[in-house]
Parts: sequence; structure tokens; C-alpha cells
Amino acid sequence: MAAIINGKDVAAKIREEVAADVKKLEQQGITPGLAVVIVGDDPASKTYVKNKKLACEAVGIYSEEYALPANATQEELLTLVHQLNKKQDIDGILVQSPLPDGFNEQLVIENINPQKDVDAFHPVNVGRIMIGDYSFLPCTPAGVIELIHAAGVEIQGKRCVVIGRSNIVGKPMAMLLLHEHGTVTVCHSRTEHLAQICSQADILVAAVGKAKFVKEDMVKEGAVVIDVGMNRDENGKLCGDVDFNSVEKKVSFITPVPGGVGPMTIAMLLKNTVTAAKHQAGIVD
Ligand code: GUN
Repeated sequence: MAAIINGKDVAAKIREEVAADVKKLEQQGITPGLAVVIVGDDPASKTYVKNKKLACEAVGIYSEEYALPANATQEELLTLVHQLNKKQDIDGILVQSPLPDGFNEQLVIENINPQKDVDAFHPVNVGRIMIGDYSFLPCTPAGVIELIHAAGVEIQGKRCVVIGRSNIVGKPMAMLLLHEHGTVTVCHSRTEHLAQICSQADILVAAVGKAKFVKEDMVKEGAVVIDVGMNRDENGKLCGDVDFNSVEKKVSFITPVPGGVGPMTIAMLLKNTVTAAKHQAGIVD
């Protein structure tokens, strides 16, 4: 039976650290500020945005929410991003993804000032992550690394397999594991012998977006399994990319869904917002 890595507990600890950092900045007259932009009315996105706002309030970060209708234009969105780039009380900008059809998401990201890009999606920040000289880490992969550390697992020298190659999770995840000296393989929808490759992993990160995709025969005995998935099963119940009940019996550590990676993403966003505020105030840690 695996030990469950409790993302809520690890995230709570990071939020406490962030709150303490915010208090210190307050004494210097600095309040970190985050602007969250949402376009359209996707229910899941609305929930994420609400949670981000509440999380900011809880640690003392100032936040602003900008909601544009689904029929807003690309120009309107870019104008808003340019205004936020100039806004003194805003240190971090997050444009909630996905944008409605018709928007050029990449162009929007490229218009965010890289110093305020708390998602670390701008090509400048992506490039910095590639060379290992970065101030912001993409929130979800950074959260995964924190969870592996919290379990007391050493990444160095381990065989790490990432399933999924998205720009948001899979690709930066592979880079961060590499920076931690893991030996990294990225699998995706066209990978041959995927199950066999996964079953050799000491550390397996599933970010495929398919409910219960990772089965017991795809994991190594004693592996560490991190589940980035957020799906609905056949009964409409929230579940991850890993078939938790069968896999859990075979591995040493596993993250649950919900309560694993999810809470970490917001905690890392708060951390990035504080980092952005420090940099913009000329404070170097
Ligand atoms: N949609 C789902 N996850 C994320 C995220 O981390 N950042 C943004 N901007 N949108 C998202």
C-alpha cells in the first residue's frame, strides 16, 4: 500500500510561508498585486478564478479580476493586457486559459510583460526555464517537484517518465525533473510501447487528461506516482489520470485527485506573485 502525498497539507505550508513573506513586504510598504483576466463564462474557469482570488485574500495579496464577455475582441483583450503591464499596483498578470474560440492565446501571452508573467508561459520565461536561469517556475510542474520533495524522495539519478507533452505541464515538467538531475523520458499519444516505458519509471508523472489512463500494469513496484489529471469518470465523479485504487496497491507514494497536485498550483501562483513583487521593487532574495 502506498503512502498518500497530501497536497492540501504541503500547499498549506507554502501558503503560510507566502503569507509571512507578504507581511515582511508590508513593512517595506509593498503589497503584491495579482490581476486575473477571464474571458467568457466557462464554469470551470470561473471556479478556478474565484479560488485564486480567495487564495490571494487569505495571504494578503491584493487582487483584481477582469471579466470580459465571450464576444470581446482580441484587440480589447490586448488593450487590457497592455494597461495591466503599466499598472503600478499589479505585479502579476494571469489570463485564464482556455480562451474562447477565435482568440489567439499565444499572442496574448506574448503581450504580457515577462516580469509580470506569473504563469511562466511567455517565451522569455520558457527559454529561461530551458537554460535553468529563471525567476518564475510554471505553477503546476513546480508544485509537482514540491510534492516529490515533501515525500522525501530524491530525484537525482532516478528514471522519470512524464506522460503528456503540453506547454503548460508536460514540457516544463520534463525540464524541472532534468534540473533536479533525473533521467527523463517524455511519452505522448504517439509513443510506442508506452506501458512498457512507464513501467520502468521510478517517478511517473501523469499529465494526459484521460480518466484512469494509468493502470496497475503500467507502474513499477515501489514507484512514486504523481497524478496531474483532473477528469470526470463514468459516474461524473472527479478523478485523475491514474486508476488510483489498483495502482495504489503497487507503488510507494501516490497523489490523490482531488487533494494532490491541484492545491499546489494555486500555492505556487501565490509564490510567483510575491517573487514578481520583490523583483519589481528591486529586492533580490
Ligand atoms: N487554466 C488551467 N490551468 C491554468 C494555469 O495554470 N494558468 C492559466 N492561465 N490558465 C489555466
